[in-house]
Amino acid sequence: MINNSIEEFFEQVITVKLSPQRDSVDIIDQTLLPGKIKRISLRTKEEVWEAIKKLRVRGAPAIGVCAAFGLAVTVNGLTSDDFEAFFAGFKEIKDYLASSRPTAVNLFWALNRMEKKVLESKDLPVAQIKELLFDEALAIQSEDIAISHNIGEFGFGLMKALKKEGRELGILTHCNAGTLATAKYGTALAPVYTALEHGWSGSDVHVYCDETRPLLQGARLTAFELSQAGVTTTLQCDNMASMLMKQGKIDLIFVGTDRVAANGDIANKIGTSGVAILAKHYGIPFYVCAPSSTVDLDTPSGADIPIEMRDPSEVAELWYRERMAPGGIDIFNPAFDITDHELITGIITERGILYEPFSKTLEIAR
Ligand code: MRU
Repeated sequence: MINNSIEEFFEQVITVKLSPQRDSVDIIDQTLLPGKIKRISLRTKEEVWEAIKKLRVRGAPAIGVCAAFGLAVTVNGLTSDDFEAFFAGFKEIKDYLASSRPTAVNLFWALNRMEKKVLESKDLPVAQIKELLFDEALAIQSEDIAISHNIGEFGFGLMKALKKEGRELGILTHCNAGTLATAKYGTALAPVYTALEHGWSGSDVHVYCDETRPLLQGARLTAFELSQAGVTTTLQCDNMASMLMKQGKIDLIFVGTDRVAANGDIANKIGTSGVAILAKHYGIPFYVCAPSSTVDLDTPSGADIPIEMRDPSEVAELWYRERMAPGGIDIFNPAFDITDHELITGIITERGILYEPFSKTLEIAR
């Protein structure tokens, strides 16, 4: 895509949309990337649930947007005009969608926001409440775009401060916290896209993507979207990050997060805490990019964040022509880990960059 504008790039990879007829949620099926860019339509609650569970749509903010659209579309099909009957149907679908994945708080945040809209509109006719739910889901989407753009501007400020004339700026990221994971700019990749909007060329910056075992979000998604955007990109296996840091290639680390606890501990894709520990060893700034919808002040610390455990076959079989582990072997497959707040240089939010003590500075998210 090298010669196309950044806006054309976004148009191609915007991951979640409400269909113009408002009868489906249209997503890029991320399980098919990078081989195929295919949009699929989700019309039923089961299809929305399955798409989130199977990571056809993934990344904390994108899951929230998809769930909000999915709820608006599916409750629109409820037939009763009686508020109590409508609300019972709404709750059932909401609780069902909430059971798809446990770690990213944006899912619950978006669904709760939709419920709040229903309750504050309870005196209106049900048909009008249904319209308000579409408006609310669209607002969640457009707010995410504005929020991640702000995160991009704050992160770009850090990039400018570290950039040396005549030398590319080396950034390492883990998992995919880019366009595919949000409504538009991404979180961890928002500063990079913002740099392009401000006139940096794709070779002023060099993004090193961790492959991100076991589901390869780095290899399949981050490497895909950055190279589509014309950014100099290198892919490495997760266990190669330390060597890059030792060689002095990494100036800055940006990662996303699925939930920020009240003390500043964060959950992000499995392997993130290892990156943070390495960063501390090599003295490399480690920043977490988080919209305030990802901050969960009701969760005191990382120990209280539910960690999703996934199917062992993702480790032993998924990417191999034949199974690559002995049958019956015990397999550990957590989808996320906790990075202790002591390892985090700063948390980049839409309202500014937060530093320790996070238990105080995170209050801005309230
Ligand atoms: O399992 P995934 O692919 O949904 O995990 C995604 C991540 O861990 C992202 O880093 C996180 O959601 C932040 S996305 C902006």
